[in-house]
Amino acid sequence: MNIIGLDIGTSSVKALLVSNMGEVLKVSSQEYPFQTPRPLWAEADPEIWWQATKQAVNELLEGIDPGSISAIGLTGQMHGMVALDVSGQVLRSCIMWNDQRSHEECEEITSMVGAENVLKITGNPVLAGFTAPKIKWMQKNEPEIFKKVSKILLPKDYIRYRLTGEFFSDVSDASGTSLLNVGERKWSEEILQVLGWDPSWLPPVTESTEMSAKISSYGAEATGLLEGTPVAAGGGDCAAQAVGSAIVEEGKVSVTLGTSGVVFAQSDEYRVEPEGKLHAFCHAVPGKWHLMGVMLSAAGSFQWYKNTLGDLEAKQEEEGQGDAYEILTRNAESIAAGSEGLFFLPYLSGERTPYADPYAKGCFIGLTLRHQKEHFSRSVLEGVSYGLNDSLELMRKLGINPEDVQLSGGGTKSSLWKQMLADIFNAPCSMVNAREGAAYGAALLAAVGVGQYENVASATAAWIRTTETIQPSSEVDIYGKYYSLYQGLYPKLKETFSEISTLC
Ligand code: XUL
Repeated sequence: MNIIGLDIGTSSVKALLVSNMGEVLKVSSQEYPFQTPRPLWAEADPEIWWQATKQAVNELLEGIDPGSISAIGLTGQMHGMVALDVSGQVLRSCIMWNDQRSHEECEEITSMVGAENVLKITGNPVLAGFTAPKIKWMQKNEPEIFKKVSKILLPKDYIRYRLTGEFFSDVSDASGTSLLNVGERKWSEEILQVLGWDPSWLPPVTESTEMSAKISSYGAEATGLLEGTPVAAGGGDCAAQAVGSAIVEEGKVSVTLGTSGVVFAQSDEYRVEPEGKLHAFCHAVPGKWHLMGVMLSAAGSFQWYKNTLGDLEAKQEEEGQGDAYEILTRNAESIAAGSEGLFFLPYLSGERTPYADPYAKGCFIGLTLRHQKEHFSRSVLEGVSYGLNDSLELMRKLGINPEDVQLSGGGTKSSLWKQMLADIFNAPCSMVNAREGAAYGAALLAAVGVGQYENVASATAAWIRTTETIQPSSEVDIYGKYYSLYQGLYPKLKETFSEISTLC
């Protein structure tokens, strides 16, 4: 029997066919856009996700007997607000995780619930990326739509609804709503009451390995799956990605270099960073938690750089001289660690960790006449790596000292970047055989859910192994000096960033 992992991502849906031994048999994916109708806004039409999901699953099943699928695991982008009316129709575009419009609403919710109480109950301050301030924004700015709300779902749970007709969520994804009591792993009646929101808007939540619902006849007809195929609760993409990298024991740490960058540590206990700088969420491993730092533009910074300033390399790619990213990183190798004093701050979409500041901006600092294109390329990679190290440092202060840091995500195609991370973290970094990210983790959770494995740890032991380890090099010291300078830059520029935001 095989399992399907489905990841409803920010820019595409990925469907993965995995054997019961954890072997990836087939992948299909469909891209889709999201809109930025105003600066700091990010929205997408959930119908587009559903259309793409149908197509991806249909393609995945071409030549495959749907009767051989024992379960479906779901994961997806976290925090998005999908609002439905009483007949299950989508009321407005989803306000996504990378939308930063609800800064004021975060403050309102915080003062209504009390800052200390919010941190204690939800493990986090209320952040603009999270779901509750988006609901509040809709309540204030779109009262006519708000009046019709009957359900609020997270992106993957909306796709579950289309597949099964059932409303359901899991504790790891629900942790990013500011509405979950993260310590107790259930919706917070207290917060819902203070905000005056109806608890029936929210679907039941369970652990990620529970089976949630079954493919309906409508879902079967749309996708080619068999009616009755069970669907596991699944997890938010960060937790599922961590499961798919075997981050399932106390103190294990992973770093994902996707559009956003995630530094993730499993915790056996519910631990909260005293100032709420790290997210404290439920893990997709039943009864466990995790701490997490999220950088909003990680590999996304390098993608922005390539798209904006990489015309030459794009042309070279067209001429068959290799991939534009590879050309940029290859050229960056000729520059010494530290980019001769050129720093890049990666706050292109504002930031979450360690500075929860929607107004933070990206910038290059330290330019001199000596700096060439190669310095810019290297400094972007370094700036993102320093920013990720900020999260790791916060974890180290809480007593999490990983023996090694497991790397994953698109950015790990670059060996320069992997070595840079080992040097800046001053820790060995490793890669595992599983490269399909959150969708793979979702499939693994479903395998546990249908009883193929006793628990998540035994499934990861069977499916996942280390394939590469990168030791820190002699550049650790030089990076240590540059990192100290980097740490001082944001605090000096914070006010300027806010002032810039008042102008445009
Ligand atoms: C996690 C986060 C992102 C999204 C998109 O807190 O905001 O990683 O889940 O992938």
